[in-house]
Amino acid sequence: EKGGYAHFMIKEIHEQPAALRDTMSPHVDPENYTIRQQEMPLTREQVEDIAGITILACGTAYHAGMVGKWLFEAMARIPVEVDIASEFRYRDPIIRPGTLCIIISQSGETADTIAAMREAKRQGARILAITNVVGSTIAREADQVIYTWAGPEIAVASTKAYVSQVMVLTILAADIAHKRGRMSDEELRDYVKELLTIPDKAAKVLEMNSEIQRFAHKHFDKRSVFYLGRGLDYALALEASLKLKEISYIHSEAYAAGELKHGTIALIEPGTLVVSLVTQSKVIEKTISNIIEVKVRGAETLAVAFEGDTKAREEVKYLFTVPKTSDLFAPMLAIIPMQMLAYYMALEKGCDIDKPRNLAKSVTVE
Ligand code: M6R
Repeated sequence: EKGGYAHFMIKEIHEQPAALRDTMSPHVDPENYTIRQQEMPLTREQVEDIAGITILACGTAYHAGMVGKWLFEAMARIPVEVDIASEFRYRDPIIRPGTLCIIISQSGETADTIAAMREAKRQGARILAITNVVGSTIAREADQVIYTWAGPEIAVASTKAYVSQVMVLTILAADIAHKRGRMSDEELRDYVKELLTIPDKAAKVLEMNSEIQRFAHKHFDKRSVFYLGRGLDYALALEASLKLKEISYIHSEAYAAGELKHGTIALIEPGTLVVSLVTQSKVIEKTISNIIEVKVRGAETLAVAFEGDTKAREEVKYLFTVPKTSDLFAPMLAIIPMQMLAYYMALEKGCDIDKPRNLAKSVTVE
């Protein structure tokens, strides 16, 4: 059932090119490079009426939501709140008229996410669910659903569900931006054309397997790992950090790189591993200056960048590269080496990877 793989997690990591393709295919027309409207949940009028978006989710799905926030704001210029479902439900939250509420959940059965969805619905929001499980509670109760077609995800650590959620958000952001006149037909064509290359590029990333395994072999004894990034790279850093801690039990934290000076840098000592995500061209230099700051304090530095990067390469000890694509699509590729890093660190430590201690696949109690 693991198809020759040692664990479901690594099998599912390798299924990501297919998960991305299967999730993308119903929504994009590969001949005309457009978005197929039959599968899109919102009409032009409905899109025009959106005053704001609230995204609710837990864990990895919340991290996908942070990518969504960035894309919706940058591309469609709609204000977005992204909230942890368990915080939202107990906060006496405010849902303004015209709010589209996007619920993200792999299982569709997470108790806090269900409760948050019901609260948003009670307050009058239109509910759009992104889920992987047909017929799940969230799929049944939402006004509309877009499915991720990742296939069953067995490992507790979410991998292929995450990239599929990000794929849906990436398509939805373009559809909304286009319908609101923020993206021309031509820009949409270029966007879809590049998006179509992502599954093959994800397959290329998987070829880094042995390089990452070697890196993990050298560094699995680390007590603490820090992940830094800005913008989409920060969203990515949060997910990379969660992956590492949940299966390898290595303490890790993700910081918006600009926050470093506001306290975190006190924790950097000789030998600390600092992983920087540097895929966003607008802020690369900024993050590189943070890399230099931790390096002079003795940190061991690893960066994840696009192929062809010349800036990060000069400053870090180790570099993992992913095929070049639009900055907007970076999370779907750059997360893959981070998932593999978590996996191989945990493997070196002899952890029970598919069933990490204290965790359940689906948190159906609050
Ligand atoms: O099924 P859901 O997407 O609602 O689950 C949400 C989280 O419980 C889940 O993503 C969790 O954080 C994973 N273990 C992360 O790998």
